[in-house]
Amino acid sequence: MSKSRRKVVLITGASSGIGLACAELLGAQGHAVHGTSRHPAKDGAHHRMRVLDVTDDAAVRRVVEGVLAEEGRIDVVVNSAGFVLAGAVEDVSVEEAWRQMDTNFFGVLRMCKAVLPVMRAQRSGLIINISSMGGAAGLPFQGLYSASKFALEGLTESLRQEVAAFGIEATLLQPGDVRTRVREYRVRAGRSGPGSAYHEVFEKVLALVEAGEGEGVPPEQVARKVLMLVEGQRVDVRYSVGHLSQRVALLSKRLLPARTFEHIVMAVHGLSRR
Ligand SMILES: NC(=O)c1ccc[n+]([C@@H]2O[C@H](COP(=O)([O-])OP(=O)(O)OC[C@H]3O[C@@H](n4cnc5c(N)ncnc54)[C@H](OP(=O)(O)O)[C@@H]3O)[C@@H](O)[C@H]2O)c1
Repeated sequence: MSKSRRKVVLITGASSGIGLACAELLGAQGHAVHGTSRHPAKDGAHHRMRVLDVTDDAAVRRVVEGVLAEEGRIDVVVNSAGFVLAGAVEDVSVEEAWRQMDTNFFGVLRMCKAVLPVMRAQRSGLIINISSMGGAAGLPFQGLYSASKFALEGLTESLRQEVAAFGIEATLLQPGDVRTRVREYRVRAGRSGPGSAYHEVFEKVLALVEAGEGEGVPPEQVARKVLMLVEGQRVDVRYSVGHLSQRVALLSKRLLPARTFEHIVMAVHGLSRR
């Protein structure tokens, strides 16, 4: 790859899943990739790893300064760090909800605020925010996760319009089920145990969700979409990635009456009205 096309890319949550697949693919394509994890991690064959907890303001600023000091610029940020909080809305404590938002939403906000001055000075840059199909449709028993991704969608839509004049682009990726460590990292609300009024149905829904994730597309499929955006010319507002059935389901939200769409989502999760 010619030096002029080699992009400097910073990827959060690059120790696993989608972030790792992006780091490996973009690095192998000759881009200068800096991935992050909360824990010290070995560099990949073609990418560096840095320690970062996206809930730490100062750490986010330090990582951006570190990449800038080494590379002289930052062309692309992929915000992939995130986890899923599962539990009925009634069972989620405000503290648990806060932790979900702190990583999935405020983590992205922190990174955007740290990197935007750099991109404005360069008069170019691309921010790719990994949302979810749960950022387009509220998912039962993942209400706070959906809330964090809906918030990310609104933030990114607004940001795009503000930074366009500086030559900066921002976009959203909405993966459906992807085979990653998302199940391992999922946090269950403390009150979702046997004492919960929702316990039985919650466990049934979660089993269905986890089975779906196990049959999800490989994270490399999301990474290929990210590569296309990094190396392409024009960047749209959002892209869905995943099984065709899930992408069609997303499209149907725009076409069907809201209650009909909701009925389908409930049926897919084995839920029905009284
Ligand atoms: N898998 C799916 O089906 C799916 C579907 C739609 C959207 N997504 C989204 O895709 C993104 C990546 O998820 P994944 O499926 O690839 O999950 P994953 O395999 O569990 O990876 C999550 C990554 O996020 C990092 N992370 C978690 N909390 C962090 C924090 N506070 N600060 C910094 N890094 C943190 C983890 O790194 P360390 O633990 O090493 O810090 C890990 O690298 C998430 O935003 C998720 O919501 C996933």
